[in-house]
Amino acid sequence: MISKTMEAALNRQINRELYSAYLYLSMSAYFETATLKGFAKWMRVQAKEEQVHAMKIYDYVIARGGKVVLEAIEEPKGKWTSAGKIFEEVYAHEQKVTGMIHALVDLSLKEKDHATFEMLQWFVREQVEEEEHASEILSQITMVGDVPGHLFYLDHQLGKRE
Ligand SMILES: [Fe+2]
Ligand SMILES: [Fe+2]
Repeated sequence: MISKTMEAALNRQINRELYSAYLYLSMSAYFETATLKGFAKWMRVQAKEEQVHAMKIYDYVIARGGKVVLEAIEEPKGKWTSAGKIFEEVYAHEQKVTGMIHALVDLSLKEKDHATFEMLQWFVREQVEEEEHASEILSQITMVGDVPGHLFYLDHQLGKRE
């Protein structure tokens, strides 16, 4: 069994992962309207990954005899001014999520909850990749120029993501 404190903290993280999915889906929809179909595809795949993250924690809570509680998902923003602005936000958001994961790791250590600590290590590694990808794409946008006319090659590249 997991403690009530840990159960609540993990339920909160399920909500934040679902919010991440919602935010990235909103960004994907924005890119669709901006005719940057490759960026839209990349974001759609990213949204799916966030759902997978939520379900990893969801399944873990159940496996440990806890109770999953789903709360309202915050409404994401729907408008941005450029692709660069979006990736600045993605990068900042992922850094925030990394902080949340690290806080969960701290809690697992405090509670001597070794199973939760072990489960969270996957997320610690995943966040390194998430931050790396976001900052890489942000740099590429900055390099070519944050205007739609310059983004077609990058759009083509990002559209290859499966
Ligand atoms: Fe995530
Ligand atoms: Fe993420």
